[in-house]
Amino acid sequence: MKVLGLESSCDETGVAIYDSEHGLLADALYSQIGLHSEFGGVVPELASRDHVRKLLPLVNEVFEKAGITGADLDGVAFTSGPGLAGALMVGACAGRAMAYAWGVPAIGVHHMEGHLLAPMLEETPPAFPFIALLVSGGHTQLVRVDGVGQYAILGESLDDAAGEAFDKAAKMLELPYPGGPQLAKLAESGDLSRFTFPRPMVNRPGLDFSFSGLKTFTLNTIADCRGEGELSAVDRADIAAAFQEAVVDTLSIKCLRALKQEGLTRLVMAGGVSANRVLRARLAEKLSAMGGEVYYPRPEYCTDNGAMIAYAGFCRLQAGQQDELGIAVRPRWPM
Ligand code: KG4
Ligand code: ZN
Repeated sequence: MKVLGLESSCDETGVAIYDSEHGLLADALYSQIGLHSEFGGVVPELASRDHVRKLLPLVNEVFEKAGITGADLDGVAFTSGPGLAGALMVGACAGRAMAYAWGVPAIGVHHMEGHLLAPMLEETPPAFPFIALLVSGGHTQLVRVDGVGQYAILGESLDDAAGEAFDKAAKMLELPYPGGPQLAKLAESGDLSRFTFPRPMVNRPGLDFSFSGLKTFTLNTIADCRGEGELSAVDRADIAAAFQEAVVDTLSIKCLRALKQEGLTRLVMAGGVSANRVLRARLAEKLSAMGGEVYYPRPEYCTDNGAMIAYAGFCRLQAGQQDELGIAVRPRWPM
């Protein structure tokens, strides 16, 4: 079964073809980072327009790379939510129309299900059941996964998502958009012994998160350091390191708690923040100490991409699901 996957929920246009026999046949990605950077964040209208410009050329590119045409497909999958309404609409309209033209089923996929299943594209995929830590710009969730479509949310952020917290702290440190990876880079040269940031909610039972307090703490630390003058390069690196350490520590504590609660030893990390090297190393170390295993997608499939949507769509289509002829998106869609 060959499925074309389209991702256009935010600021990346991703297109890929997944083949159930041969795996991923082709993959193409266009990032709008350059377009939005001067505004310090994603501008929804500009995002939609750029998806319109880039989507079909990327579709042609993956067909060329894979050496197939639309007539060889068995289905088309697209992200139908959550995300920016206009941006989602571009992928949904194009995907639904192409599926209609080629006479194959179409399926709208939940963006976070795409992230969650992305580790399945790796050489050694995790076996069910496992705990998934979904950490992106819009979500922070701990999910028990018993199979495709069998998801139980064990905990989630009550306010900012982990990626959002990274991006906001990065902005305070005057780093360019998107801040998460830039803050992680700056943190590499920071001194961890200088500041200790709080680990929100770790002393309370349960698996929920809260990252908005870290934002205030970062702001206050910056103000203290700055005094009347400018923040030095050393201050910025030290603050970045302390901030990252607090987020990584908090996420790790809750992951271990979730595994223990559910009696599982397999952990899957997915979503943009799972590209964070310190977080990956910390969880790999903790899981190995408890005889467990951690799984994550290769870095390019941690952030938004078409491959994860093609794969999630394949799983859904294989299970006999498909969308009606109409075109609908769900900008807010709980998983
Ligand atoms: O999954 P994703 O590409 O898009 C959403 O679905 O939100 O995640 C993007 C988020 C952004 O907040 C970005 O700053 C964060 O992931 N991110 C990182 C890193 N790479 C991406 N955060 C921390 N460290 C990184 N290396
Ligand atoms: Zn995402």
